[in-house]
Amino acid sequence: MNEYIREHYLEAGKIASVVRKEAGSRIKEDVPLLEVAEYAENRIKDLGGNIAFPCNISINEIASHYTPDDDIARFKRGDVVKIDIGVHIEGYIADTASTVEVATWHHSKLIKACEEALDNAILSVRDSVQTRTIGKVIEQTIKKHGFTPIKHLTGHSLEQYMLHSGINIPNYASVFSWKIKKDMVFAIEPFATSGAGNIRYGKPHIYAALKAGTTAHKKISERFGTLPFARRWVPEMNTGDLKGLREYFELIESSGAIVAQSEHTVIVGEGGCEVTTK
Ligand code: CO
Repeated sequence: MNEYIREHYLEAGKIASVVRKEAGSRIKEDVPLLEVAEYAENRIKDLGGNIAFPCNISINEIASHYTPDDDIARFKRGDVVKIDIGVHIEGYIADTASTVEVATWHHSKLIKACEEALDNAILSVRDSVQTRTIGKVIEQTIKKHGFTPIKHLTGHSLEQYMLHSGINIPNYASVFSWKIKKDMVFAIEPFATSGAGNIRYGKPHIYAALKAGTTAHKKISERFGTLPFARRWVPEMNTGDLKGLREYFELIESSGAIVAQSEHTVIVGEGGCEVTTK
């Protein structure tokens, strides 16, 4: 990887990390979700970054892909909140997430198990390692603490302007596996739950243009390329305008069990990896 690209990944990571921490500390009882989402998105721009995807704020059994459409919903005492931040600089993306419990500590063990799974996974990343091996580390760590990894959800490789560029990092010892290589960039994101870990789909609040979009989607491609955007970012568009776009449905633990998520972006090196979003 040339220095220019590395610098861009590292800068995006630095911004994403600052915003994850700052936005996370604003998650408090009675605060509207929208306030935190807009704070995060504006802060990314203030720090010189670009938004790679809408700030995801997914609560309790919702694992991912929720972003508020309006200022009605507020954080409640006891909520287990996943905040997921995406930043890019010239298309080089940082993707990072953490879990915060609002004013209670009932799910500290679950949150800690997920964080430890991510830490252990990062320690296992190096040139030529199999993605299954990383997944196995995640699965074992989460299970050791008595919880279940969500198999349906995975980490993913990143490339310029591509949030999911083809290789998945499973959260268990999967049958399918890829050999990862030096200089590849990945978001690793264990999800842990106290439930069975099956996923059902909810509603879409996030969309993206497809590569070969129709003319009706041209405006969207011009603004966002193929990166995801929030429904609330395009209030001028009606439901018909959004037809045929890629929809990111809410991902929900099907039995309603609480879900935690931890995520960092890493650049694969020879004997280890560099975390860009520390
Ligand atoms: Co993410």
